[in-house]
Amino acid sequence: MIPPDTVQKILDATRIEEVVSEFVSLHRRGASYWGCCPFHNEKTPSFSVSPSRGIFKCFGCGEGGNAVHFLMKHEHFSYPDALRFLANKYGIEIKEKELTDEERQAQTERDTLFHVSEFAQKHFADLLYNNEDGRNIGLAYFYERQLSDDIIKKFGLGYCLDEWEAFTKYAISQGYSEDALVKSGLSIMKEGSEKRIYDRFRGRVMFPIFNASGRVLGFSGRVLTSEKTSAKYVNSPDSEIYNKSNTLYGIYQAKSAISRQDLCYLVEGNIDVISMHQAGLENTIASCGTSLTKEQIRMIKRYTRNVTLMYDGDPPGVKAAIRAIDLLLGEGMRVRVVLFPDNDDPDSYAKKYGSEAIQNFVKDNAIDFVRFKTGILLKDAGNDPLKISQAASEMVNTIALVGDLMERTESVHECASMMRISEDTIAQSVAKAILRNKQKAYDEEHKNAETAPQETTPPPADETDSGTTTPITSQSGNQFLQSFFPCEEQEKKIIEILLSHGNDTITQPAKDEDGKDIFEEYYVATLVISDILNDNIKFDNPLYQSIFDEYEAFLKQGSLPPDQHFVNHPKEDIRLLAATLLSQPYSISEKWYEMYNISTPSPDDPNVIANDLHDSMLNLKMKKLEQKITQAKEELKTAPNDDEMMMLLARIKQYEAVRMAIGKELNRVIT
Ligand code: CTP
Ligand code: MN
Repeated sequence: MIPPDTVQKILDATRIEEVVSEFVSLHRRGASYWGCCPFHNEKTPSFSVSPSRGIFKCFGCGEGGNAVHFLMKHEHFSYPDALRFLANKYGIEIKEKELTDEERQAQTERDTLFHVSEFAQKHFADLLYNNEDGRNIGLAYFYERQLSDDIIKKFGLGYCLDEWEAFTKYAISQGYSEDALVKSGLSIMKEGSEKRIYDRFRGRVMFPIFNASGRVLGFSGRVLTSEKTSAKYVNSPDSEIYNKSNTLYGIYQAKSAISRQDLCYLVEGNIDVISMHQAGLENTIASCGTSLTKEQIRMIKRYTRNVTLMYDGDPPGVKAAIRAIDLLLGEGMRVRVVLFPDNDDPDSYAKKYGSEAIQNFVKDNAIDFVRFKTGILLKDAGNDPLKISQAASEMVNTIALVGDLMERTESVHECASMMRISEDTIAQSVAKAILRNKQKAYDEEHKNAETAPQETTPPPADETDSGTTTPITSQSGNQFLQSFFPCEEQEKKIIEILLSHGNDTITQPAKDEDGKDIFEEYYVATLVISDILNDNIKFDNPLYQSIFDEYEAFLKQGSLPPDQHFVNHPKEDIRLLAATLLSQPYSISEKWYEMYNISTPSPDDPNVIANDLHDSMLNLKMKKLEQKITQAKEELKTAPNDDEMMMLLARIKQYEAVRMAIGKELNRVIT
């Protein structure tokens, strides 16, 4: 709800070196500051901050971005909270957007729901210790499950009386409205000939569900009898404040341990979470009575990339784990699995063998997802060759979800050795699967682009970060990119020039009205854009194309993107790419050093830029032509008739001629 012009004001005021140095000790060296990276363990500094570009970049772990990104990563702030932190630091007043009547109504409604939920939590917790039934039934149950008073308090557990209206009546007597009680899900309204309002939770032990900052959102109530006459758990329905698919049970109590240990344990049940905390494994959470969702994973990702699944060893547990693995990998997480012995879950194991035993068990038995899933599939397949080959292809699809090249290579290796298939075969199938996925994603995006009206103006800074981190920007993925996009290097170079120098001006030879040779000043961006458009060149890498398109949209409106527009971009993959390209030392072909006789690189010299642009553009065109020639030659092989063949031959000849011309021009410049 921070208005876009305020966002811009905050970003303009922000000095990245001042923000980062609140958390990292930095030393100046040349134009940049250096320090030890706070995102991975290191002793020699490879973490750099560039004040002029407004970005940080770690050459060790690849982490990079602007000041907002730094705060989101380091302090686990949401995007708006990072902006609020900066606004506060630089004394910028945030006039949160004037709320409409409807929004204000929703805001008050949310507040009311928070209040009534907190009231209920306190009340249920009070009954557990201070009411006879609470003690005899509820507390006795928790004791029977070997929960300590400390852990009961830490999780705010409680008890609700086995009566129809006890809670609702009490809440109303304390001034809470029927409307709030119903909307929070604590009470149920029965309309009909005779209106009736009664308690949702009756005679159950109560597990409050907290959000990450400790506010009560809803409840999960467990029956105390083992007879199957009523559901084992009754849960609060989704409400204005509670949405089960983006809530994690235990996140409030676990978040700092998850962050500190850089590891998250994911279990299936509420009791498992509590039991694990009691056993000293405080980085444990559960996915709140639903199967794991993307939203939940993104929430975990704010604290760590490492997840260890501890699902039950029974068939439904294994099935859930297999589903969770793909989902987690797809979000860029690293996944391990602990399989408990038959009939045990984390809670029962901890109770049976004690805290130390479960800590050791978990440490010794966590295996990576490849070993887990391959093991399961091979066991199912037995000696059936068809099933084994199906298992291999299923593993290939899963491994293809791993974004990081090193990690993926590791997975390929492990899978190949377990399945006794050659590593090359698996690697090739994985590469194909990745390409298929990329194509699918691209088609999907294209389809959306066709149905949605095309955006002509650049998007405003968005509060919700739609950022899906695709492996496209990861540096380690470069080798892979090369095989998908043959022009990758040349395309990247053009985008690098656009981002680093698009808003600089250089002089170019031109003709005046009388046809006389003159020199004119141009923006680098104008030259790049018009040249690419003239030759109708498209970038193979969709990320480059979208940066190009955005630049073009700005120019069409007679403006240029503001400084740091792309490093502050609302889309995470663009932000990361910009940070990566801008923090690479701007690479000028060696020959320009020699030609200008410069020993120290001076990348900002307009002559150097002009010549580098000239060459890079020709290199791109050359590469694109080569691609077209190869393609035409392929088509030639399967040409259906002579006419077609002649046409293709003519086209190839034409391409070759242009290629010669470009080659000459590149040569001419060299000599
Ligand atoms: N669950 C639910 N509704 C049910 C059953 C289960 O919402 N009818 C959710 C709960 O969040 C529960 C989780 O699924 O915590 C796991 O279920 P289960 O393993 O059956 O429950 P536990 O919490 O392990 O309970 P217990 O150990 O007491 O049997
Ligand atoms: Mn259980």
